[in-house]
Amino acid sequence: MSRKPIVFGNWKLNKSLKESVEFIRALDGRLEGLDVDAGIAPVTTVLESAVAASRNSKLAIAGQDVHWCDSGAYTGTVSGNHLLELGCSHVIIGHSERRQFFMESDDRVSDKVRLAFDVGLTPIACIGETLAQREAGHAEKIVARQVSSIVSQLTADEVSRLVLAYEPVWAIGTGKSATPEDADHMHLVIRNCVRKQFDDAADTLRIQYGGSVKPANAESLLSMPNIDGALVGGASLKVDSFLEILKWADSTRS
Ligand code: PGA
Repeated sequence: MSRKPIVFGNWKLNKSLKESVEFIRALDGRLEGLDVDAGIAPVTTVLESAVAASRNSKLAIAGQDVHWCDSGAYTGTVSGNHLLELGCSHVIIGHSERRQFFMESDDRVSDKVRLAFDVGLTPIACIGETLAQREAGHAEKIVARQVSSIVSQLTADEVSRLVLAYEPVWAIGTGKSATPEDADHMHLVIRNCVRKQFDDAADTLRIQYGGSVKPANAESLLSMPNIDGALVGGASLKVDSFLEILKWADSTRS
């Protein structure tokens, strides 16, 4: 089954408005000929300008988080319709930093994924085990629980359009990525977990790997059969390194 690669840069709390727009303009045009769904998730205040700067390119713009309700007394958050209004097409949900620093539970993540589909955004839902969970031999169980929660409120059609990002927490920002074989195995576990409930929709679902993806390891990770792309943090902050990862993703198509 051939799935189109999807590679997004997660800028987290980095880059000013000016830096973001300059980056997107520099990348624009260099995406020509790449058969990859490429995108960037800048900080919320930059989204509108990022969408304007990427208007002529194939680059999608994503929010880094969304609230689970569409409106109401929720100070300091952003709704799915607000993201849509700004021109976003995707939203990252349940990143491990949100789970760790903002106490996001599996149930909240599941509600946010539901909301994203309701308003017409494509969710990139993150899952992954901590080092302690992996060392205790619980990685597969933890990830299966996270996946089951995410898909619990979705239809088969939505599952087929969902993007999951498997990001082992110990590999994020540490320079230590999972080996391609380990990552591929976890992706297979994730896909099989979805297959149990949704049969064929599991074949269309795309699963990104995230955690210290860089030009030096992109080829070995992205050429694995169950890895459909990457969610890139640090290496997405420089045009050349992000572009190199996009090119490796494209090369897995041929
Ligand atoms: P990293 O971050 O590539 O810097 O490890 C990935 C992520 O947090 O999505």
